[in-house]
Amino acid sequence: MKNTIVVIDAGGRGSVLVDKYSQSPDVSKIIAIPGNDYMEHSSKKPVEIYTHLKTTSVKEIIEICKKENVSFVDVAQDNAVAVGLVDELLRNGIMAMGPSKLAGEIEWNKAWSREFMSRHNISQPEYQIFDDTETAIAYLQKQKDQSWFVKASGLAEGKGALPAKNNAEAEERIIELQKFGDSAKTFLLEKWLQAKTGLAEEFSAFAISDGKTFQTIGYAQDHKRALDGDKGENTGGMGCSTPPLVIDKNIKDQTEKIFKKTLDGLKIEARPYKGILYLGGIIIDRKVYIIEFNARWGDPEAQVIIPGIKNDFFELGEAIINEELDSIKIETDNKARIVVAGSSNGYPGDYSNVKGKQIFGLEKASKIPDVKIYGAGIKIHSNKFYANGGRIFYVTGEGKNIHEARQKAYKAMKLISVEGNNLHYRTDIGWRDARRISK
Ligand code: GLY
Repeated sequence: MKNTIVVIDAGGRGSVLVDKYSQSPDVSKIIAIPGNDYMEHSSKKPVEIYTHLKTTSVKEIIEICKKENVSFVDVAQDNAVAVGLVDELLRNGIMAMGPSKLAGEIEWNKAWSREFMSRHNISQPEYQIFDDTETAIAYLQKQKDQSWFVKASGLAEGKGALPAKNNAEAEERIIELQKFGDSAKTFLLEKWLQAKTGLAEEFSAFAISDGKTFQTIGYAQDHKRALDGDKGENTGGMGCSTPPLVIDKNIKDQTEKIFKKTLDGLKIEARPYKGILYLGGIIIDRKVYIIEFNARWGDPEAQVIIPGIKNDFFELGEAIINEELDSIKIETDNKARIVVAGSSNGYPGDYSNVKGKQIFGLEKASKIPDVKIYGAGIKIHSNKFYANGGRIFYVTGEGKNIHEARQKAYKAMKLISVEGNNLHYRTDIGWRDARRISK
């Protein structure tokens, strides 16, 4: 049987999902909403994009699904989860893969999420929730001087957690956070966890759940800062590596237990979770604490973990929807991968002067063995590529270890440029593990 699948996302994460669904013999066509031009260009199967729509264009998405008689919709993006797209699709008789609005609250309401973790005894930093800046500042003034994270409770494109080295900086961050408007109406002050023996390392872990059972799929390490050496501003993510060598059996066991407590807790609270659950963790002195949960794949984590999954994604999607995940075993290829984001100069600040500049070298780079290119902010006219966003494309390289993966990805990256020397990328993605295996 031939099926049409819809993927809700526009960026690199959506691109790797489109690529993975296109590899299934059961899938004949993929619709990406909004999608990006490079998805259509690089896919071996027909891809239809709707770049004039948003991930939250619920009415239009339902109309397209009905007209195209789609088999299911993979709701892969946070805003879409938060507006309840999964619930609306199901109400209209359209199958959907992703969490309901209530289950997804674990991401879109970080205050609720912290309280949930407290109720279920999940290790996390100490936190306080506030609804106004004056009360928060008065609270801070009574605390001993220390480092904090000031966090918007709502969605803020991954940029709503502001670090503060001391109480004075935290007061400034509380004011600065208000630029996120409604997303920061409720906000949190979280104590910055400090390691006693030196190890403090962040990681991302992913589990897939059908509401009844779950399986842990993989681990990655994101590089959030714009510049080499983890310097510069926070971004949506400049690159990732997998599998992180810091994840040993002890960390895996702790992570597995946290996934179980979380998914059981959601079930107990009548919010069974279907889809991908993203655990943003930090290891402090060998103990895992939760920074945040997200109700979707990470971006760019998806670009290194999904290519390593051997299972047919159409079958996997159906198993989740039909609550039959226990009939499938997720298998991975155990290769090392890194992904490097190619961004417009200026990102995450003002990069407006890069919009419309031509991109060169993508075709040549994509022909390198063990390299995949995923589009994001790309426009295509007459077979030429143009920059159309902050993160323009991603280059994934794979190999038997991190050195090989880096060598492939950077060989490809060096072939790519943006008119006017306007391409920026980090040259040190995977540095922790590269250093570890060189020792
Ligand atoms: N990699 C960060 C995120 O997807 O939120």
